[in-house]
Amino acid sequence: MTRYRYMPTHVGTAAHGCPAERSSAIASRRARSVFLPAVAVLATILATSCSQQSASAPVPKPTAFGAAIVESSGGKQIAQTGSLLPQPVVVQVNDKQGAAVAGALVEFAAAPSVTFDSPNALTDSSGQVTSNVSLGGMAGRYQLSASTFDKSHKKVELKIEAIALGYQQTLGRHLNDQYCERCHNPESTVERVSNYDNLEVKPHPFTEGDTLNKLSDADLAAIISHGGSALNKSALMPAWGNTLSKSDVQALISYIRAVSDPPSRSAGPVYAKH
Ligand code: HEC
Repeated sequence: MTRYRYMPTHVGTAAHGCPAERSSAIASRRARSVFLPAVAVLATILATSCSQQSASAPVPKPTAFGAAIVESSGGKQIAQTGSLLPQPVVVQVNDKQGAAVAGALVEFAAAPSVTFDSPNALTDSSGQVTSNVSLGGMAGRYQLSASTFDKSHKKVELKIEAIALGYQQTLGRHLNDQYCERCHNPESTVERVSNYDNLEVKPHPFTEGDTLNKLSDADLAAIISHGGSALNKSALMPAWGNTLSKSDVQALISYIRAVSDPPSRSAGPVYAKH
């Protein structure tokens, strides 16, 4: 099973939306009134190249059909409500033999509050379509779907999940980055060297629902505040009661519940297309 990925908490400003569209529309209006045809032409070019990506663009006509659609990357990401996923979602269309198919139509769909910068597109020469995804404003799990049609016009669908963190969960995530990740995440990043390999008793990543879901909220509060010994576990798990406030501990618990995979009972709602 693929686990939810720990990602840097800041969200990049990667190609999101279409700023040229608005400014060029304003520019062309202005251009018309002051008779500046060159600006108008430029604005039109900008608007055209942009509108290919906007939701109202016509659905392109496929030149080929595949038999399967698979995820290449970008599944199971975590972001704050209403923000862009840190990485784009990339899917691939393959034929029966598993070879990439170029020119197949891929359509993305999700709950109405989710936006895709390319909701429908034809696969490129490597059989792939890439879309940036912005999650809705409600915390919870979002189910995204990517679909294509096979030769007999049967729909073939792939489901991809993403998690949107609410305010308290996002606070928990920041605390996790600051105090917990270095032991609980085996992977090192540029900003943080993992201490995991040095620990004789191995902690679990908070995405590991199989372990974390067995602990009650009271258990989590006890081990976080008083350290491993509170649950007869290793003293390598420090006590945080002097460092963190009660509401910090609550924020960490709500973060742990939000990201666990499989989901915890209190993981919150699932938003899918309807
Ligand atoms: C110095 C390393 C270290 C740091 C930092 C650390 N932990 Fe741990 N943690 C451990 C170890 C080791 C265990 C496993 C104890 C055992 O199984 O006996 C553990 C266990 C836990 C558990 C029980 C589930 C599990 O993973 O086995 C929870 C919950 C937990 N830690 C929460 C936190 C939180 C929240 C933070 C940050 C505020 C944190 N930990 C920071 C080392 C650490």
